[in-house]
Order: sequence, then C-alpha cells, then structure tokens
Amino acid sequence: MNGGRIGPKDLRTLLGEWETDGQSAYHALADRIRLLIIDGRLPTRTRLPAERELADELDRSRTTIVSAYRALKQTGHLVSQRGSGSVVALPHPHDRPGALPQPAVVDFARAAPAAISGLETIIQRATANLSGVLGKTGFDLIGSPTLRERIAHHYSARGLPTRPGQIMITLGAQHAIALIGRTLVRRADRVLVESPTYPHALDAFRMSGGRLVTVPVTADGWDGDRLRDAFERVRPSLAYLIPDFQNPTGASMPPAQRDDVIRYARRAGTVLVLDETTADLDIDRGWTDVPFAARADDHRTVTIGSLGKSVWGGLRIGWIRADDDVIGALHAARAAGDLGTPELEQLVAIEVFDDYDALVQRRTEQLRHHRDVLVRELHERLPQWDVPVPDGGMSLWVGLGAPISSALALFGLTRGISLIAGPRFGVDGAFERFLRIPYTGRSDDLARGVHLLADTARSLPALPAGRAPQLAEVV
Ligand SMILES: Cc1ncc(COP(=O)(O)O)c(C=O)c1O
Repeated sequence: MNGGRIGPKDLRTLLGEWETDGQSAYHALADRIRLLIIDGRLPTRTRLPAERELADELDRSRTTIVSAYRALKQTGHLVSQRGSGSVVALPHPHDRPGALPQPAVVDFARAAPAAISGLETIIQRATANLSGVLGKTGFDLIGSPTLRERIAHHYSARGLPTRPGQIMITLGAQHAIALIGRTLVRRADRVLVESPTYPHALDAFRMSGGRLVTVPVTADGWDGDRLRDAFERVRPSLAYLIPDFQNPTGASMPPAQRDDVIRYARRAGTVLVLDETTADLDIDRGWTDVPFAARADDHRTVTIGSLGKSVWGGLRIGWIRADDDVIGALHAARAAGDLGTPELEQLVAIEVFDDYDALVQRRTEQLRHHRDVLVRELHERLPQWDVPVPDGGMSLWVGLGAPISSALALFGLTRGISLIAGPRFGVDGAFERFLRIPYTGRSDDLARGVHLLADTARSLPALPAGRAPQLAEVV
C-alpha cells in the first residue's frame, strides 16, 4: 500500500467502527483517518479513494467526505497531487507550531522495559578492554563467532542441538522478522499470522509483498480447528507465530498443539517462523518446554530470539536460528538493508549470556510485581473491563466491552497518555473492543496510567456534540 492506493472497501475495513456520538460525521471520519496515519496503518504516499467512491462505500454524503478530506488537508495529513487525488502525508511539525505533539506523561503504547538491573556492571566488564574491537571494522553481517557459539550453546542446553553456523546475530528481533520477510517471502505469497499479533511483524510481511491470512488467538489460546483449517485451506508459504506469551494476548501454545502445528505445516509445505522474543518472560506459567523447533528440527523451522525484553531493547541484539541454507540466504540478502551488528553490543551480549538465567529471573520477578499492580489498579478503577491475567509476557489484552479503543487512543493524547488502539494488532479493523496495556513501565507510572485511562474512558460518552477535542488539536 505504501505509495500505492487503497480502495474504498479496504479503507472501510480499516476504518472499523469510526462514528462517535459526540462528533459530526466528517470530524469523526477525519479523526479516524488521522489515527490510521499516525499509527502507521495508512502509510504515507498512499492514495485515498476519490470522494464519491468513498461516499458510496460508507453510505455517506459526498459533502461529508469532502469536508473530512479538507480537514485532513488543513492539518497536513493529506495533500492533493495532480493526477493522483488525495495522498497521505505526515505534517511537518514546524508548519504547525501551535500543535506540536505533547510528550505523553505515561507511555502505554510501547511494551519495552528499561535495562535490567545489573546490566551496567556487565557493560563495564564487557568494554573494559576494547583493543580487540577498535582495531577492526567493528561490525559484521553474520555475528561474532563467540556470540554465535554462546547462543548455539544456549539452545543446545535447552534441548535443541545447535551449531554456531545455524545462528545469525541481528539488530534485534524486528530486524530478524523484516530480513526473513524480504528473503523468504515472494510477492503474493500467503503468510499466516495470528490475529491479534505484534503489529510491526504485520508491517514487515506486508512490505515483503506477502498476502496476510489470519488465525485467531485469544487470551485462552489458539482454536485447534481454525489452526488446522488455516494450514489446510490456505497452504501458506510461511507462518509467523509467537508461541510463548503471545504479544498481545499473553497466551502460550500447549505442547500437544505445537506438535499439531508442525504436522500441519509439513503437510502444507509451510516455513514456520517462531518468534521467541517473549519466551523467557515466564511469570507463573507452571510448565516449561523445549524450544518449539526442538519438536521439528528441519529446514522448514526458523526461530527468532532477542535480548530486547529479557535484558534490554537498547542493546539491539537479536538472532535467527535456522538451517545452514536459510542462514546462507539471509546472509547474502542482508547487506541490502544494513551492514551488520555492532561488535560493541555483541561484546556486551557475550557477557550477558554468562549471567543470563539470573538476569531473566530478575526480569520475571519485576514483571510479576508490575502485572499484579496493573491488574489491581484496573479492577479498582475500571471494574467493567474484562482483564484476563496472563501467566507471562509483558502486557494485558483487555476487553473494553464497547468499541472505544481508537477513541481512547485519540482522547488519551489530550490527557497525557499514549496508547495503541486495538485494531493496530489486527489486519482487518477488528479489535476495536480491545486494548493492550503493557506492564513494562515503572510501577508508579502504572497506577498513574490507569488513573489517566479511567479519566479518559469516563470522558468519552459525556462529550457534548461539537465539543469533542479533535485529533488535529492534539497531534
Ligand atoms: C513478539 C515480538 N517480536 C519482536 C519484537 C521486537 O523486538 P526487538 O526489540 O528485539 O526488535 C517485539 C517487541 O515488542 C515483540 O513483542
């Protein structure tokens, strides 16, 4: 879609339930399109449907659409291009000095914890003698032999025999997903993803030209029949799954279902991409298992790992474990996008693996405390919301009971809280009744965040017509 056009049907799907009680239709429509632009679901340079087409699709007057587009042009979110109609843009902040984004007081948008305590000492230890690094280029495409060896050992010790040659070090897990997408997915290939799932994986597979097909997952897990049907009917080239403490639902796939998935994938000829970025965030699941790929170690299984959640995202250290041919293909394709992982960060990662289990234990203790604080605050201040308690991971996937997720994200900005609307985690405008709330921030921020959230939620139905703050005023 980036630089392309979005048809009226697809735009209607993305818009979801966009009308709100307190706003005129054109304001509500402009606000919803602005939100889609801001959170990346409508990439810049995308051409929107002509006004008449969209009016027919939404069953609204052409005047409503013309007014919404005009409002978007006034705030710099749409530009008119001769011959191309109305094209998505991002306003330059200097063009609108009175409307600079306010820094959020509480960030409930990102699920990314601060560095685990003890990392500073590890960094000092790792960088005490840099002569070996500074005398070389300091970056490489495949990863340092020592770090690859450490990670291979880490897998082998957990029941998945691994050679260093099966490991590539990446710039975090997101980089791994994007590299796998552009190397293994060809245009129009079918890519099976969970719904909801980690949004930037959706972006990466879309950019690779993949056609996304979904299989539902809830806080209770994956529906076995739907999983089997998805593999049998769609025969995807690639399936991207987050089997442990899935982002955003927190669900974990039971071992027997993992065996089913492997069987379905084999029959369909599907490459399984298993994102284990969140796999070590086990708060109180009560069972452990070998890494998923140990159940099916063959050339069709690719595992992604990262230190981003367990230790610190600031290191930007992730990795891919796959068979030698896949690693070879990724290695060959990588330089088109980046020239490699810094050795400085890899030195730190090597030291991290000396203390890994203790660091992870510290992280999960912290997450347990934060999860419990967040759940308690939500029960107290927003008792009408459905709050399933995950046994690991880093966020709650909360049921709001009404389609207000985008409105919360929108008006939350006026109250100093940044949120990602539920539909960002899906592919078809669904999840307007859900909100992901991470518990990776500081614990006093969790209480403050819930206070702001409750305040935002309370204000939604009470907005008198015409008085609703427009997104244009706050971003
Ligand atoms: C499931 C999943 N995969 C990948 C990533 C990206 O992680 P990294 O910081 O290692 O790029 C995230 C971050 O939230 C995630 O939740």
